[in-house]
Amino acid sequence: SNVRAPSLPLRKAMLPSISSNPRHVNQKHAVKLSESIKNGTKKVHKEAENVYFIRSFIKGNISRDAYAKLTGNLWHVYVMLEAVLDKNEGVLYGIHQPVELDRADRLLKDWRFLAKRDAGAFPEASPATKDYVSRLESVSNSTQPHLLIAHAYTRYMGDLSGGQILSCCARKALDLPESGEGGMFYKFPGINPKTFKNKYRDILDKLPYEHSSIVSEANVAFALNIRIFEEIDVYNGVEGAVVRPLEFALEQAGKWKME
Ligand code: HEM
Repeated sequence: SNVRAPSLPLRKAMLPSISSNPRHVNQKHAVKLSESIKNGTKKVHKEAENVYFIRSFIKGNISRDAYAKLTGNLWHVYVMLEAVLDKNEGVLYGIHQPVELDRADRLLKDWRFLAKRDAGAFPEASPATKDYVSRLESVSNSTQPHLLIAHAYTRYMGDLSGGQILSCCARKALDLPESGEGGMFYKFPGINPKTFKNKYRDILDKLPYEHSSIVSEANVAFALNIRIFEEIDVYNGVEGAVVRPLEFALEQAGKWKME
C-alpha cells in the first residue's frame, strides 16, 4: 500500500503516556506473558504427562478407586484455590472467573459418586495434597499474592486442554453413566474451551506484573500436581514409583524453568 511509516516524532506522539498506561510495566518484555508461561512450563508439562498414572489414564487404564482418589484430592486443592482467588481478586485483574471456572462443588459430587459415599461425606487430603494446599495458602498470605495467577493458570488452562482429553478416558474407562455423574469435573457448561482459553491468554497478556516469578510459580504448581499423581502410583504399588520429596520438587521446578 501507499501508507508510509510515520516519522519518528509522530510515532512518539501516538504512544500513550507511560503514567496512564499500566501495561508499560510489561512493555520491556519482548514476549507476552501467555507465551512466557507456556514456553516456561513446556518441560514440566512433559514431565507431568510422563508420570505413570497420567500415561495410564490417557490409555484408559484407570481404576474407579484411583480416579476417586484423584477427585478427592483435587477437591481439597480447588477449595483452597478458589477461596484464595476470591480473597485476592483485587490483584488478579479478571483472572479469577468463578462463574465459569469453579470446580470444587463438581469435584465433591464426583468424589461422592465414585467413592460411593453419601451426601455429607468428605474426602481426606493426602500428604502431597496438603503440601499443595499449604503452598496456595502461603502464596495468598505472602507479599506477592498475585503469584496465584500461576496456580489458576496451571489448573484451569490444564482442565480446559489436556483435561478435555482425559475426560473421555475417564468416561470410557470407568463406564460412567449418561447422566454425567462421576464426570462433572471436566465439564464446563456454556464454555467453548478454545475461545475461552484465548480470552484467558488476553487477560494474562494485560497483567501489569513481571513475568519471571509467575513462570517460576507455575513450575511449582506443576511440581505439586506431579506429586499427587506420583502418590497414586505409590498407592497402586506401581514398580519403582516414588513421591519426590517436596524440597526436591521445588528445587527441580526452578531447574525446569531455566532449562
Ligand atoms: C495445554 C495435553 C496433562 C496443564 C495442553 C495442550 C495439550 C495438552 C494438547 C495444548 C492445548 C492448546 O494449546 O490449546 C495434555 C495431555 C495431558 C496433559 C495429553 C495428559 C496426558 C496436563 C497436566 C497439567 C496440564 C497434568 C497440569 C496439572 C496444561 C496447561 C496448558 C496445557 C496449563 C496450557 C498451556 C498454554 O497454552 O499456555 N495440554 N496435558 N496438562 N496443559 Fe496439558
